[in-house]
Amino acid sequence: MAVDKMNELHKLRDKISQGGGEKRIAKQHESGKLTARERINLLLDESSFNEIDAFVKHRCTEFGMETTDAPGEGVVTGFGTVEGRLVYVYAQDFTVVGGSLGEMHAQKICKVLDLAMKMGAPVVGMNDSGGARIQEGVDALSGYGKIFYRNTIASGVIPQISVIMGPCAGGAVYSPALTDFIFMVDKTSQMFITGPQVIKTVTGEEVSAEELGGAMTHNSISGVAHFMSNNEKECIEEIRRLLSFLPSNNMENAPIVSTNDDLNRVEDVLNTIIPDSPNKPYDMYEIIKTIVDDGDFMDVQPYYARNIITGFARLNGSSIGIIANQPKVLAGCLDINASDKAGRFIRTCDAFNIPILNLVDVPGFLPGTNQEFGGIIRHGAKMLYAYSESTVPKVTLVVRKAYGGAYLAMCSKDLGADMVFAWPQAEIAVMGPEGAANIIFKKEIENADNPAQARNEKIQEYKDKFATPYIAASRGFVDDVIEPSATRPILINAFEMLSSKRETRPSKKHGNLPV
Ligand code: HXC
Repeated sequence: MAVDKMNELHKLRDKISQGGGEKRIAKQHESGKLTARERINLLLDESSFNEIDAFVKHRCTEFGMETTDAPGEGVVTGFGTVEGRLVYVYAQDFTVVGGSLGEMHAQKICKVLDLAMKMGAPVVGMNDSGGARIQEGVDALSGYGKIFYRNTIASGVIPQISVIMGPCAGGAVYSPALTDFIFMVDKTSQMFITGPQVIKTVTGEEVSAEELGGAMTHNSISGVAHFMSNNEKECIEEIRRLLSFLPSNNMENAPIVSTNDDLNRVEDVLNTIIPDSPNKPYDMYEIIKTIVDDGDFMDVQPYYARNIITGFARLNGSSIGIIANQPKVLAGCLDINASDKAGRFIRTCDAFNIPILNLVDVPGFLPGTNQEFGGIIRHGAKMLYAYSESTVPKVTLVVRKAYGGAYLAMCSKDLGADMVFAWPQAEIAVMGPEGAANIIFKKEIENADNPAQARNEKIQEYKDKFATPYIAASRGFVDDVIEPSATRPILINAFEMLSSKRETRPSKKHGNLPV
């Protein structure tokens, strides 16, 4: 008898683990995609996956669903470990009714989210689905609503990572949008609210699914996604890497990863990395990679708003978030997209106790009607808001320019930087020398015998007097002017000193972030 029961269990399990069956699995593979179970096995440490709710079934009796068998309800859920740390996971199974989401499919996802919240562990959700299961109507919509609600409540408590590995259409895109990070795979994943067909009917526009909502579109144009990979295996490796920089929840610190990189490493190359001409660009990535442990930097949103760099690295084994202007793109100016990218990243770091390093070389906010009409005022305000409300240790290093509002927006002392350093060639002032000289020396320039020469002299006079770090340092806005070569040990000491930082904010329901 017991043997019969055991056989029944094994039979049921086997059937469920085959998802939509051989043919559909082969189709999945042919289109360059892995199955839900293959994805989970790649993500989690070997043999660590524990499945839950494998026997869940849908309750729909409409439009032929009463005879439709949907093994696992089109989603595989459970928990396991990544580098030994608990992680919850769900992966939609496109081979089962197109991974479409009905009432019970949603219930499985909600159970995982609820467990992750109680245990304080990250959730990785792999999306590959035709969206709401049409036969289930409003029950399917309700399922999405329950997931959105949980994503929001869990926001800032546990890291939530969404992976798009197939179609993700309609309201289905909003669960990923509510989570902390979105990974996409080039050519095999798409996200859109309304697909190409609907767009053609409503507006007459013709656009391919890839152009409309492919990985490159959302990584470079819309800013919806944070990471893009060439294939699923590479994507899953990057998810494991990202998790290594994050704590399991908002009450913990990120894991410390031991390094052989010398804490006292001095790099003479940093003394000459900034070109003599203040208008000549250089690559900020070089500075970042020279400073951080083992040159290891995980770029977040590398293709979007490339005038600002955001990403994770480590100093002396501890995770830090880096926000850095990139002089190679738009001269490192702040604009709408850069403000959105940085504002969001600052809040992600603050939510998860990751100290922030700001590397500043910013000539100002990008001028223009596009920017003003697009609302640079409210977008730029996101950076001011995010830095001011954040309580994690913050260190700012001005490597070259820091002018005007952008000086403040890159986390000046007054916006809450705990330590501010500057390299000797830093220029910290209210505005650039040329603009400033034109205004304050207007009369002298106009009345001079040779206005062009007078203008150049006045610009030089302003530069000599104000375009230095020493006026800011004389007021205490800069804590120290440092030799660039010693940057790594100085930053490590600063973050070490700040590691016991405790700062609280007045209790309130929540602030009113400009959006
Ligand atoms: C029920 C679905 C489904 C869905 C796919 N299937 N999507 N079943 N509800 N939403 C089924 C198909 O009928 C098919 O079943 C199987 O899954 C595989 O789908 P195919 O179409 O054969 O695959 P493919 O050619 O690869 O096309 C994939 C697709 C397409 C692009 C995703 O299936 C599609 O356009 N689906 C509908 C997408 C959509 O409009 N979703 C929005 C729903 S409304 P058989 O048995 O034939 O193999 C929505 C609003 C949510 O999501 C709002 C939340 C707030």
